Amino acid sequence: MRILLGVGAGIAAYKSALLLRLLTESGHEVRVVPTRASLAFVGTATWEALSGRPVTTEVFENVPEVEHVRLGKEADLVVVAPATADLLARAATGRADDLLTAALLTARCPVLLAPAMHTEMWEHPATQANVATLRSRGVHVLEPAVGRLTGADSGAGRLPEPEEIAAAALALVEDPAPQDLAGRRVVVSAGGTREPLDPVRFLGNRSTGRQGYALARAAAARGAHVTLVAANVTLPDPPGVLVVPVETTAELRAGVREHAATADVVVMAAAVADYRPARAAQEKLKKDGSGGLTLDLVQNPDVLAELSRDRLRAGQVVVGFAAETGDATGSVLEHGRAKARRKGADLLVVNAVGGGRGFGEVGNDVVVLAGDGTEVARSTGSKDDVAHGVWDAVVERLA
Ligand code: CTP
Repeated sequence: MRILLGVGAGIAAYKSALLLRLLTESGHEVRVVPTRASLAFVGTATWEALSGRPVTTEVFENVPEVEHVRLGKEADLVVVAPATADLLARAATGRADDLLTAALLTARCPVLLAPAMHTEMWEHPATQANVATLRSRGVHVLEPAVGRLTGADSGAGRLPEPEEIAAAALALVEDPAPQDLAGRRVVVSAGGTREPLDPVRFLGNRSTGRQGYALARAAAARGAHVTLVAANVTLPDPPGVLVVPVETTAELRAGVREHAATADVVVMAAAVADYRPARAAQEKLKKDGSGGLTLDLVQNPDVLAELSRDRLRAGQVVVGFAAETGDATGSVLEHGRAKARRKGADLLVVNAVGGGRGFGEVGNDVVVLAGDGTEVARSTGSKDDVAHGVWDAVVERLA
């Protein structure tokens, strides 16, 4: 989905940096359009770096692209945070004196404004009249939060928390998720385990945890009680999800198995280290002058294969992930089929990695295999789309 994030000139503009992250991490393309004055609070570089897209404030920049028309028309959702008293006034009167207000006039999608200002400005009849006008036209205007303002003062006028703004905004455009996991308990593992070599070094992998977090969010949205066993993930906790942080494979195994004992579904989305150092040094390893270092590694238990074998709860659906690269011995799918049979899970979600695919970036493309290697579904799109595709397959299996 294409989201236009407008930023007004309020001190709370810094909170919109987090809002931007929440929106991009939910798999959306976000174009930031700050007002000129807002750049005094948060500069262009921050918005460009966080959104990965160019940022302009004026109608007269990038004229051949006719951005003041295109940006609004192409948006699926417009969110403005913070919306200052001046910005509310300009929006209410239909001014188009910068790129953001011009885009507000061309947008035909849902628009959410999150006001932030001092209490006096918020309560002024002029501001209240502008809010009433905007609301009468179908614009969604959030009530500001009550609390500490810029200085020592406090009252109504605080920008709501970024999580609240993101949830309110996305609720305007997203179809409500089917409640087909209501009453179900699910465990999702995410991230990548780390095996310590010494107090400062570890063996690890590049998993960011994004796909696992998307799975947890999607399950929660579909009504499940979700436990997320998170190995070394730095993403914000998904709302309503119990997060169990772990580091090593042994910790991940213990966390997953504890919660799997009462779960209807276990999804192993974590990248689990297959080997760990036979001994983790208690002190930092020093160079010994030999010009090399040999590590003794021992194999870790295969958590997924154990879960598939032990079936900690009757009727439990066990789901594995396989990140594969094609090679001389077989294609991605051939390796996936062999792994599905070897692991004994009910479903195996196979995705191609390597060459930048699969890790970290927004999109994903997976094939869901049954335990016998037959294809049951395909899913492409954002990590959220893929997550819902996986849960669709799980729900079918539970039925
Ligand atoms: N997995 C696990 N425990 C391990 C290794 C992997 O539970 N020690 C799980 C992962 O969470 C994932 C699935 O197994 O759901 C596939 O992981 P992958 O690393 O692709 O499988 P491996 O068994 O390591 O296969 P390979 O022989 O390709 O290394």
